[in-house]
Amino acid sequence: HKYLNKFPDDFLWGAATAAFQVEGAYDVDGKGISIQDAKNGSNKFHDTSVTADHYHRYQEDIKLMKELGLKSYRLSIAWTRIYPDGKTKNQKGIDFYNRILDELIKNDIKPLVTIYHFDHPQCLQDAYGGWYSREIIDDFVRFARTCFEEFGDRVHYWLTICEQNNVVLYPKLIGGFLDGVDSEKWRFEVHHVMTIANARVIKLCHKLLPDSKIGPCVGYSAIYPKTCKPEDMLAALNQEDFRFNYPLDLLCFGRQNKLVKRYLEERGIDVVLSDEELLEMQGVNPDFIAFNYYQSAVAEFCPLQEEEKQPEFNLEGKKGNMSFSQFPGLYQEASNPYLERSDWDWEIDPIGFRIAFRKLYDRYQLPLMVTENGLGAYDTLEGNEVHDQYRIDYLEKHILQMKEAINDGVEIIAYYPWSFMDVLSTSNGYSKRYGFVYVDRSDEDIKELKRYKKDSFYWYQKIITANNI
Ligand code: BG6
Repeated sequence: HKYLNKFPDDFLWGAATAAFQVEGAYDVDGKGISIQDAKNGSNKFHDTSVTADHYHRYQEDIKLMKELGLKSYRLSIAWTRIYPDGKTKNQKGIDFYNRILDELIKNDIKPLVTIYHFDHPQCLQDAYGGWYSREIIDDFVRFARTCFEEFGDRVHYWLTICEQNNVVLYPKLIGGFLDGVDSEKWRFEVHHVMTIANARVIKLCHKLLPDSKIGPCVGYSAIYPKTCKPEDMLAALNQEDFRFNYPLDLLCFGRQNKLVKRYLEERGIDVVLSDEELLEMQGVNPDFIAFNYYQSAVAEFCPLQEEEKQPEFNLEGKKGNMSFSQFPGLYQEASNPYLERSDWDWEIDPIGFRIAFRKLYDRYQLPLMVTENGLGAYDTLEGNEVHDQYRIDYLEKHILQMKEAINDGVEIIAYYPWSFMDVLSTSNGYSKRYGFVYVDRSDEDIKELKRYKKDSFYWYQKIITANNI
């Protein structure tokens, strides 16, 4: 058979989490308060203080990873454990990640480390507005350098910043937005600061750890035009440039995307990179592009005279009540009548996943890693079991399309479903679950936090063993 009937031998079957969503112990062993911790209690679903208590239960959790057969595990390092006040190193925080990394290596699981996952120190937010200021670049590079020096002997795969593009698209949800600042000015200022930070950290990693691989991570969606009207197709291209290509063109090609540059100029937004900064963007050479894929999106023509609308998430996080984003002159989002939806109204689109691979690979010609993909759903514990056939269906359809994409000629090196175990959702607490491992707690009652293997755990275990679907 001339087409792939197995995945490549060194394919990294993984699973992912992020520090603030899984560790708990938010103020233990000298840890500082992150912007995520500072939001605790802002709604009844958000509380980082215990989450899955992975900080104290990592041995049990890594044992489960081993049983699942993971080749790799994606974790993030909490900046506030390593630099609680942004400036002073905390050995106890370093010790914690040493314990985790040693345990992973002992179990033959390759760590993939996200350096930044939505959780910078609140004190840096207070001091200069977090990512809205270029001051954060030195603080971030210092933190990254410490990660490379302390953990680089065991970590050979690194991600710089998780979903820079979504941080700027949803400033209030995950970005550390500053009230009173124009949202477009904030958006592109943060984009530029993060892109320079990305470039410096990638170059530093290449210098300090020449055998390691490092890349940026974007939240990606296939974008469809609402109709075959040429205006809608143009809107779809605009959305791609605006949401994905802008940061990736800078990092991979060292140039500012012209469409977005024009958009900024037309709005008189003076946050364009200086010549010196553009020079820094040359020769960054990420080793791969990582992307997170949950759903696709639809673009519709949006005339210049419309008033801009930002999406509002209600507490349930459902899109049903959410106004779609609008960027006059570029595009507005619309819904897709052809797709099924999750419990949270996220479109389920496995073919869009294949399209995402093709689009990213065509443009950047770099190996691709999927660092998140999965289904957030209400799960029910029945006895000791969770029958999450809906999650199996979602993942199965997506993995089949990933295999098709490899057959289409795309170089794909890793796949990390979100999430290894149930984690605190970014806006929906513990009722929206993604894990292969059920963590027994609710938003109101943390119970004993016992772990249960869901049906999807046994299903994924078989795929990894067969290296095939
Ligand atoms: C990704 C984030 O954007 O989406 C994760 O990197 C997040 O941190 C995931 O958990 C799913 O989003 P949510 O809101 O359902 O938790």
